[in-house]
Amino acid sequence: MPQVCNHGGMSRPRISQRISAISESATLAVDAKAKAMKAAGRPVIGFGAGEPDFPTPGYIVDAAVEACRDPRFHKYTPAGGLPELRQAIADKTLRDSGYRVDAAQVLVTNGGKQAVYEAFATLLDPGDEVVVIAPYWTTYPEAIKLAGGVQVEVVTDETTGYLASVEQLEAARTERTKVLLFVSPSNPTGAVYTPEQVTEIGRWAAEHDLWVVTDEIYEHLTYGDATFASIATAVPELGDKVVVLNGVAKTYAMTGWRVGWLIGPKDVVKAATNLQSHATSNVSNVAQAAALAAVSGDLSAVAAMREAFDRRRQTMVRLLNEIPGVVCPEPKGAFYAYPSVKELLGKDFGGRRPQTSGELAELILEEAEVALVPGEAFGTPGYFRLSYALGDGDLVEGVGRVAKLLGQAR
Ligand SMILES: Cc1ncc(COP(=O)(O)O)c(C=O)c1O
Repeated sequence: MPQVCNHGGMSRPRISQRISAISESATLAVDAKAKAMKAAGRPVIGFGAGEPDFPTPGYIVDAAVEACRDPRFHKYTPAGGLPELRQAIADKTLRDSGYRVDAAQVLVTNGGKQAVYEAFATLLDPGDEVVVIAPYWTTYPEAIKLAGGVQVEVVTDETTGYLASVEQLEAARTERTKVLLFVSPSNPTGAVYTPEQVTEIGRWAAEHDLWVVTDEIYEHLTYGDATFASIATAVPELGDKVVVLNGVAKTYAMTGWRVGWLIGPKDVVKAATNLQSHATSNVSNVAQAAALAAVSGDLSAVAAMREAFDRRRQTMVRLLNEIPGVVCPEPKGAFYAYPSVKELLGKDFGGRRPQTSGELAELILEEAEVALVPGEAFGTPGYFRLSYALGDGDLVEGVGRVAKLLGQAR
């Protein structure tokens, strides 16, 4: 029951229904709990965080330091982003995905999260449906709901490596469908669609005149024979009904700097910029100067991170699959593994019988002092998300602790 207050006999909820319907970010909550336990002296190993464990490269930090001393950056700048950054993002998009856009099609946002929020706020009217492939990143449903949209889920599982087929997407389509949300590489599963699959899905969307919102924030983190393909380039038939979301957070180890962007047709970008001009105005100029150095530079820093992530990915998947009752398909991108733990639910762990992945994650945090995010946060109970963006030693120790605890299942 929402708390109410009385004004002259009228009862009104203290918190608006729209905002009280938003749940706390489960991934940030797990991370915060693990950090609090650590601060209290407990040797917690956290697999919850969605951020690289590397520092931001020095040349990017230097650009920010220099920007601090430039009086131009002490003032408001255009709400849509520094013109030179918008141009650099357009250039980088052509370089990395072959997608040709001009600077007026780029809106610089306060992290990828604001780009997600603004994309749905700009595209959706109440009742418009968005096809979302589950497991999905925990922020999307909230952004869709806030915009009045309706999320229609297409559920995938470990048997297909969490990839959705066109047949599944078509079964979810109705006359209210306006948008397909497409995310490859995926958070939380690490699934990466092949270029052929991307093309097939994009053609289906074009055939039905849908918009595609494509979140490409993990574009540079693919492993083995997996390759990133941008749906915007792969399917020119989509015309201008594509909105690309991206940012510097994952590629350049810049999660704390809060710079992302949205690319779309000019009318969408203009409308989203109007929204941002009232909500937050320009992103911090210092952070934009850092992002400018990042996107105009080369990709050597991400290449080094990718090598470390790939090694950790292989170790993690091997160790997880050695645990009886755990099934983990090989993630092909991003930095997450998404094992099924369905076989372990309801089993006896020294007198406790967790019935859900949420309860099992709590048991693991208390008993093994390991933090992982339960599948409930991503629309698919019965799974865990483990980030492998942490040191090799912690990774082996942490999965080892989980294995020891889960091995007691009776
Ligand atoms: C799929 C996906 N998109 C967007 C973001 C947004 O990142 P940020 O707001 O840190 O730029 C994240 C961060 O976890 C993500 O995983």
